[in-house]
Amino acid sequence: MRRPLIAGNWKLNLGPGAAAALAVYLRDALTDEDAVDVVVFPTALAIGAVAAELDGSGVGVGVQEIAAIASGAMTGANSAVMAREAGCTWLLTGHSERRQHFAETDAGVGAKAKAGLAAGLYPIVCVGETLAERKAGRVDEVTQRQLAAALAPLTPDEVALVTIAYEPVWAIGTGETASPEQAQEVHAALRAWLRAHHPRVAETLRILYGGSVKADNARSLLGSPDIDGALVGGASLRVGDFTDIIAAAR
Ligand code: PGA
Repeated sequence: MRRPLIAGNWKLNLGPGAAAALAVYLRDALTDEDAVDVVVFPTALAIGAVAAELDGSGVGVGVQEIAAIASGAMTGANSAVMAREAGCTWLLTGHSERRQHFAETDAGVGAKAKAGLAAGLYPIVCVGETLAERKAGRVDEVTQRQLAAALAPLTPDEVALVTIAYEPVWAIGTGETASPEQAQEVHAALRAWLRAHHPRVAETLRILYGGSVKADNARSLLGSPDIDGALVGGASLRVGDFTDIIAAAR
């Protein structure tokens, strides 16, 4: 039985003050977090403030993006080691917005997952097809290529610490959600790929769904056998919606 994980991706929203306030609301609203793992991803500038509020609460904090190196000449970047020191235990890597706007590569996602694990962060590796790729019947090819590249540099013990997030690009921030059947089909194909390539962890790795997850569609998505949680963008900025999604995962 895989323990559900609900992750809130706050993207480029909320400075340190507003992010800390949302963290406090969230911390106080969660009563029974035992049954579900919960993690939030503030902007890098807000990590310290959010981590201070969530310390000891059971709600994890993650970093949305890192460089693959620990330190050096890389103006504007943050590293996994520094995110860990600031209070993070999770890392998001391969998000489609990074692939789209920041030229993230499949190999880069793997290097960042590796760097995160070395620093003590649990990576959530995002994969997902564009609408054109879906229309061309390439969903499995694209998502499995992205996943294979992300896991390639990892040892078997490291692979065991990864979480996968399937996020169809056409469903992110659009209000257009994959139907539970569409999502389950891709999740099952990813798990079949894991059975073939990483059989030791195929039944234990969590595969989250992301893309316009809301309070009113969470229950049907999370009811699918291979959907083990959600990566939530817009709805994670509203405490009531986010806690409803967490409740749907219990
Ligand atoms: P959304 O974003 O829930 O706003 O669609 C999801 C994500 O990008 O992780």
